[in-house]
Amino acid sequence: MSTTALTGIGVLVTNDPTVGEGRLGIRRDAAVVFEDGVVAWVGNSADAPAADIAHDLDGRAVLPGFVESHSHLVFAGDRAEEFAARMSGQKYAAGGIRTTIEATRAATDEQLAANVRRLLDESVRTGSTTVECKSGYGQTVEHELRSVQVAGRFTEEVTLLAAHVPPPEYAGRADDYVAMVVGEMIPKCAPHATWIDVFCEEGAFDRDQSHAVLTAGMAHGLVPRVHGNQLRQGPGVQLAVELGAASVDHVTHVNADDIEALAHSDTVATLLPGADFSTRSRYPDARALLDAGVTVALGADCNPGTSYTTSLPFCIAIAVRDLRMTPDEAVWAATAGGAKALRRSDIGVLSPGARADAIALDAPSYLHLAYRPGVPLISRVWRGGALVHTN
Ligand code: NIG
Ligand code: FE
Repeated sequence: MSTTALTGIGVLVTNDPTVGEGRLGIRRDAAVVFEDGVVAWVGNSADAPAADIAHDLDGRAVLPGFVESHSHLVFAGDRAEEFAARMSGQKYAAGGIRTTIEATRAATDEQLAANVRRLLDESVRTGSTTVECKSGYGQTVEHELRSVQVAGRFTEEVTLLAAHVPPPEYAGRADDYVAMVVGEMIPKCAPHATWIDVFCEEGAFDRDQSHAVLTAGMAHGLVPRVHGNQLRQGPGVQLAVELGAASVDHVTHVNADDIEALAHSDTVATLLPGADFSTRSRYPDARALLDAGVTVALGADCNPGTSYTTSLPFCIAIAVRDLRMTPDEAVWAATAGGAKALRRSDIGVLSPGARADAIALDAPSYLHLAYRPGVPLISRVWRGGALVHTN
């Protein structure tokens, strides 16, 4: 049995309203004790019990580790030129994904694993303690299978993005591709994943094709999540709600019916402002979603095409400044919201029984995440009670 005490916490975000004030469950002058990888005690710093290891945080803020519920880390190559062209006026289209498919197919397993490791190391340094990871840049049975297997070496949250874009050999034959995904790819890959995802968008897959992929995944025990309504209004949100998806992601172009459907569902709306930033698109209407009662998560959506960032602090800053989320809403969305999008109750929260995933900021308050954009504020990161990063 090993115990670690974090004492002298200036402001502690627990995300548990029974432990502290408000929705963020805030406590001041607080302490937290971890025991065998879980939170064992939360209380006033002056009352903290003795522990094997003690960290005096000297007034720093402590939060649950960020929960990144949307990332595409299994890939090779980069698309910096495509980004530069976009910044000179070119529009983003789903077809750019094929550039990465080509590079990913040509890479070795070890090259792909090294890329995942590099980006996960980067994520930890920006405070993410759980990272979901999608396949989707293979788009053959063989290449999707190795992508989910590589992802599974690093995270328990593996998503089979079986239908990302019809690959070159299926150009103009998306229905044939979907038949192959349903008949061969999903049965072979499902044992290595938890989630099934599809890019439901013009230039990728339409409603019926997306429905076929998601229901085939569900028949093999996978839980659906959807890329929807990223580039224009479309059927993604409604399909996600109809199938009881854990999350629908992007949600940039939605109408009143979409918002209404989300508000009456258990489907989380995961906003990915890094993608809107890097494609110079408009941002989603977070206020309309939140004010209607939709559960909102924030993800960084790290991928080489639309959002080559792993930083949730960066996304929180955009969410506050440009999506008009309050700092409290944005911090909740990147922690507890991400956990809801992954249907997890053991993370995104710092109350007794939760996994001991926490971050300490080089700042007196979580407000500084939005107030000091671009500054490396993550001072220490604990995952499962172990100190995995110090700055
Ligand atoms: O989440 N929208 C689809 N998938 C990625 C983009 C992938 C790419 O352009 O390589 C996203 O933005
Ligand atoms: Fe994505």
